[in-house]
Amino acid sequence: MNAVVETYDLEKTYFLESVVVRALRGVTFRVDEGDFVALMGPSGSGKSTLLNQLGCLDRPTRGDYFLAGRNVSQMDDDQLSDIRSKYLGFIFQSYNLLPQYTVVENIQVPLFYQNARLDDRTHRRCVRLAEMVGLGDRLDHRPMQLSGGQQQRVAIARALVNRPQVILADEPTGNLDSRTSDDIMQMLVKLNDAGKTIIMVTHENDIAAWAKRVVRMRDGHVETDVRNIERTQPSHEANEEFLQALSEILAEEEAEAAA
Ligand SMILES: Nc1ncnc2c1ncn2[C@@H]1O[C@H](COP(=O)(O)OP(=O)(O)OP(=O)(O)O)[C@@H](O)[C@H]1O
Ligand SMILES: [Mg+2]
Repeated sequence: MNAVVETYDLEKTYFLESVVVRALRGVTFRVDEGDFVALMGPSGSGKSTLLNQLGCLDRPTRGDYFLAGRNVSQMDDDQLSDIRSKYLGFIFQSYNLLPQYTVVENIQVPLFYQNARLDDRTHRRCVRLAEMVGLGDRLDHRPMQLSGGQQQRVAIARALVNRPQVILADEPTGNLDSRTSDDIMQMLVKLNDAGKTIIMVTHENDIAAWAKRVVRMRDGHVETDVRNIERTQPSHEANEEFLQALSEILAEEEAEAAA
């Protein structure tokens, strides 16, 4: 198996006036291609800090981080944003959609950072991603005009637009009721089945139960790291259209990449 994410003795220390917080105290951690990891642990244990490091949103104080084989720890800001837009998709608890933009425009946002041409083809691709997450009849709605679950589905489509290898999610179901959470988790499982590596922070055992592996943090360390033997399985009927659309989109991407 190829490692997509590898950290060695990663440390992150925050210095705030007289307060020193050692948020990560030597995290050595590896995620192989195709894995689905739930990152758990008490509040303040360093989950979001680790996810920010993995997401190249911040640099470690010490230690090394390799993303797709490239050492990220020494990169400057431009290189970080470049590698971020090449390999990573993000899903957040609060959706982080831009309120003045429509569904389709929000899905396009990661492409701005890639200096990608926003031509008819990319527009069509964004529409197809919106349709895939079941929002084909909401293309021109703005976030305020959508339910929480719908907003999170826009965020999933947005996370896929740059064809990332790895999806990072910080409590993606944190603001949703349990039924809507299930829908979102079904989609994440299917994305994982389709080959996307997923690393997801969650507080809830029910949500972690969908993952293949559960990593628990405590005081800036990895405390336990176990395979989930009895994962929650997605139901077959659910999201049939999603799966169909997803495999079509991924097949097209492969064909384009090969051309
Ligand atoms: N930007 C920052 N500046 C200073 N300290 C920070 C910063 N971000 C996080 N910390 C501190 O680092 C520690 C780890 O925080 P982190 O946000 O990673 O925890 P978490 O495990 O995600 O918690 P939660 O479950 O509450 O989201 C905490 O003690 C926090 O106060
Ligand atoms: Mg957090």
